[in-house]
Amino acid sequence: MTEAITDEIKRLKAERNAVILAHNYQRAEVQAIADFTGDSLELARKATQVDADVIVFCGVYFMAETAAILNPAKTVLIPDSSAGCPMADMITGEQLRALKAKHPGALAVCYVNSTAEVKAECDMCVTSGNAEKVMSSLPKGREVIFVPDRHLASHIAEKRGESYILWPGYCPTHQRLTSKAIADARAAHPGAPVLVHPECPKEVRDAADECLSTGGMCAYARSSDASDIIVGTEVGILHRLKTENPGKRFWPVDEMTICPNMKKTTLANLRDALRDMSPRVTVEAEIATRAKRAIDAMLAVS
Ligand code: 13P
Ligand code: SF4
Repeated sequence: MTEAITDEIKRLKAERNAVILAHNYQRAEVQAIADFTGDSLELARKATQVDADVIVFCGVYFMAETAAILNPAKTVLIPDSSAGCPMADMITGEQLRALKAKHPGALAVCYVNSTAEVKAECDMCVTSGNAEKVMSSLPKGREVIFVPDRHLASHIAEKRGESYILWPGYCPTHQRLTSKAIADARAAHPGAPVLVHPECPKEVRDAADECLSTGGMCAYARSSDASDIIVGTEVGILHRLKTENPGKRFWPVDEMTICPNMKKTTLANLRDALRDMSPRVTVEAEIATRAKRAIDAMLAVS
């Protein structure tokens, strides 16, 4: 069955001149058939480089929207259009406009995990892979609004010795991780370094050895001498870590760290999307033009 669907996907992909991009949290079988797997920053960059008519984006909606904003001439498909990111939906364009009105003169920065409408209101976009570098490129002495993830924002603020105007957004998947779960994982795998994502709460970040984007975790695993590594993020990344590092062992801090939206993409709906050329992801031109400015500003400095 899986083999039949895989063959169909390959045939349709060639017929449509399509490329399949997948986030590191996707199901193992989806990552296996993708042309490129990466973190949000790598996928945004890849979306500007692909020479294909169609991009099938296996991830959550804001990621496909970013690909559509960067490629207005290409068809962008998402296998399940209900695959949203709850954190991205925690702030609307209207709410951000109201916050900006309270802080005239402040620069507005959004995590890439945000809607196109929110990006359109921002001066700069960041991902977890480039946030520190991008924030260092901003003019000094200005107030900064940072939405929607309060954890990423406070992580970067701490690292840079700055303070930002925060929004109380968070990722429900990373929010469930605790310092107790890290202590338990350390006790089970003594000496193993602990990597966590900056979307984790402060007590979890403080209990870890490294706080990295998913792409940063893959790079760390490749260059580390450790034979065992503990990973505090969505468990889909374990497939890539294990595939790329066959001699090493990877242990989740909590095996229930699952993003239900990332798991909505299956081989069957990926095949259906290519066959039906639907669901398509489009962004209204006026919003896309404004959102693209914030994304381009980020890509230019990272
Ligand atoms: P990365 O940019 O590290 O891949 O993170 C994206 C994300 O949604 C994490 O929850
Ligand atoms: Fe959004 Fe969290 Fe899922 Fe990432 S893991 S897509 S931030 S809900």
